[in-house]
Amino acid sequence: MTEIEISPLNDDLSLRAHAVLPGGHFGNMASDVIIARGKEGRIWDNRGNEYVDFLLGSGPMFVGHAHPKVTEAVLNQVPNGTTFFANNVHGIKLAEEICAAVNCIEQIRFVSSGSEATLYAMRIARAYRERDKVLKFEGGYHGMSDYSLMSLAPKTLSNFPQAIPDSPGIPKKVSEEVIVAPFNDTDMFKTILEEHHEQLGAVIVEPFQRLIPPAPGFLEVLRDMTLKYDIPLIFDEIVTGFRFAYGGAQEFYSVTPDLCSLGKIIGGGFPLAAVGGRKDLMQLFDKDAVGDKHFLPQIGTLSGNPVASAAGLATLEILQPKSAYETVFDTGRVLMGELEAAMKDYGHSAVILGEPPLFDVFFTNNEISDYRGILKADTKKGSAFNKLLRSNQVFKGDSKFYVSLAHNEDDVNITVKAIREAARALNDI
Ligand SMILES: Cc1ncc(COP(=O)(O)O)c(C=O)c1O
Repeated sequence: MTEIEISPLNDDLSLRAHAVLPGGHFGNMASDVIIARGKEGRIWDNRGNEYVDFLLGSGPMFVGHAHPKVTEAVLNQVPNGTTFFANNVHGIKLAEEICAAVNCIEQIRFVSSGSEATLYAMRIARAYRERDKVLKFEGGYHGMSDYSLMSLAPKTLSNFPQAIPDSPGIPKKVSEEVIVAPFNDTDMFKTILEEHHEQLGAVIVEPFQRLIPPAPGFLEVLRDMTLKYDIPLIFDEIVTGFRFAYGGAQEFYSVTPDLCSLGKIIGGGFPLAAVGGRKDLMQLFDKDAVGDKHFLPQIGTLSGNPVASAAGLATLEILQPKSAYETVFDTGRVLMGELEAAMKDYGHSAVILGEPPLFDVFFTNNEISDYRGILKADTKKGSAFNKLLRSNQVFKGDSKFYVSLAHNEDDVNITVKAIREAARALNDI
């Protein structure tokens, strides 16, 4: 392994970041760690510290950092041009592969970020229905658009279905265009839909909301009720796409929406996301098919970028054998089991929430089935646990273990040791 170069400027980098970046960071992770390099399931910071990485770039690096096949695909394309604003071979092949893999996708459009993908998914649905309102679930994350930032993480809890904006700067009117329901509450969803279906353009949901699995039958009810009123159902699969199964959460849970958004894994670590779905809905992007009046413009300078598409295609190729998912699920299951055992052994009341490719520990006595359940967990203890993991060579985000195909036995052993040490040390705080 090559050594990390420790430049004399490195110690100043955090200070320099604070001078030029609001908050000293890019808006994602806090500024205290500067990542210099990643390989397989590990990353190194600019001081040369090595970590087992469960952040995975917030999920895209599902096959591990710098996978040789992804690197080769990228390096083959780069000298041949990096963007064209026109069709390219890799982008068309990637579109074909995704259409074949994901049940609801008959046609697809590429964009550069998940926020864009969900924005277009909601717009297609509203245009099709010729109604403005969107139903989303409290605590569901769909990126940073005005609609998506309704009741993502409300600090004051309102009565359903009132939407609460999560950011200043969003026009007040948008709150009136979003209807909010609690995740996993089938009866409440039915009541809200019966009352508001006339005004609804779309229902958007993370089929696995953040880390909360859907209750048995919940997604089926969303499907039945939206079909009953011909309201497009959007699955936001930015996280779950190609992660829970090759066909995403819609394959994993056997419920097919009308539209879905994809991101993260399909770009292989490059900026690429997509909206896809039923052909009659996607045809709204085709002026020749629907005419001027119904045509929905969709343009993005880097959409379908050839380097990102090449990386995405190479990533999907690695994931094609069923054994890839078996491996990830096996690794995740071991870690979830070890987390649970460590919590019990060291006397912490905790819930291990999620599925093997994506999970975390919440310090609470209560079962968690929605956003309000998450709020009851002890976040201070969660942060302290994450800090202790980091000082034991395990790197993760605030609220997720993302498992990769590249995490090997050594990574698991280091992580299990770190989990046990962190669980023990938590009692000393
Ligand atoms: C479910 C979901 N939707 C949308 C987004 C936004 O994607 P991006 O960060 O690429 O804009 C994310 C990002 O984490 C996400 O998890």
